Amino acid sequence: MVAFTLPQNSKVQQGKVHAMPAGTNIRSFKIYRWNPEDGKNPQVDTYHVNMDECGPMVLDALIKIKNEQDATLTFRRSCREGICGSCAMNIDGTNTLACLKSCHDVKGDVRIYPLPHLPVVKDLVPDLTRFYAQHRSIEPWLKTITPMPQAEWKQSIEERALLDGLYECILCACCSTSCPSYWWNGDRYLGPAVLLQAYRWLIDSRDEATGERLDNLEDPFRLYRCHTIMNCAKACPKGLSPAKAIAEIKKMMVERRA
Ligand code: SF4
Ligand code: SF4
Ligand code: FES
Repeated sequence: MVAFTLPQNSKVQQGKVHAMPAGTNIRSFKIYRWNPEDGKNPQVDTYHVNMDECGPMVLDALIKIKNEQDATLTFRRSCREGICGSCAMNIDGTNTLACLKSCHDVKGDVRIYPLPHLPVVKDLVPDLTRFYAQHRSIEPWLKTITPMPQAEWKQSIEERALLDGLYECILCACCSTSCPSYWWNGDRYLGPAVLLQAYRWLIDSRDEATGERLDNLEDPFRLYRCHTIMNCAKACPKGLSPAKAIAEIKKMMVERRA
């Protein structure tokens, strides 16, 4: 039966309000908290940060809160410069990277939730197991049948340029978790991030498994659940367009049938 309300144990409650620090330039951060071990409902805790003593990005504030106010606050981060994709979360209602999101771009309280429509491991950490399994399913590596060349697989400048707008993807999952089709059919639809990666290998001039790769995507769910809603392109913090890559795969499917 379809459930129209959240189950009781999923309802988000008002959480703890942490102490106000000294200073005049104070911002409030409202952060989703959930600990699988305490048996409580999720809650939104409020923290206050003196921005005169904090870096400008949302990740700077999260690190400061963790270091100085609450060591139990849990989130992923690594590179701090938009390269690793691990700090993806929902900030001010939009999926983005905490290390690239400036607090100045948020009006009022800074509201921070985990990426939507994924199970939560703890606080701001989503469970990406299925996302990574889907990525693996498209076999994201060079597949060839001709013998390995002595030095390297060559590409012309034009062939290499075809990978622009694709190779920059950092697999942060901001796009997939903003895609309504992926929300409802994420168990069978591969979603924008993985399909962009699939196209990256389909269009690589050195790869010799194009037919096999297309066969792998020829399925009413894996590829064809994209309805060109375009949330993915809007969400991508790297300015990429998974929707365009998906349209190109669909075009390749039609062309090979002709
Ligand atoms: S364009 Fe396709 S992949 Fe992108 S958000 Fe829409 S349905 Fe999802
Ligand atoms: S396409 Fe953009 S939003 Fe999607 S996973 Fe790659 S970098 Fe992240
Ligand atoms: S910490 Fe690596 S992308 Fe944000």
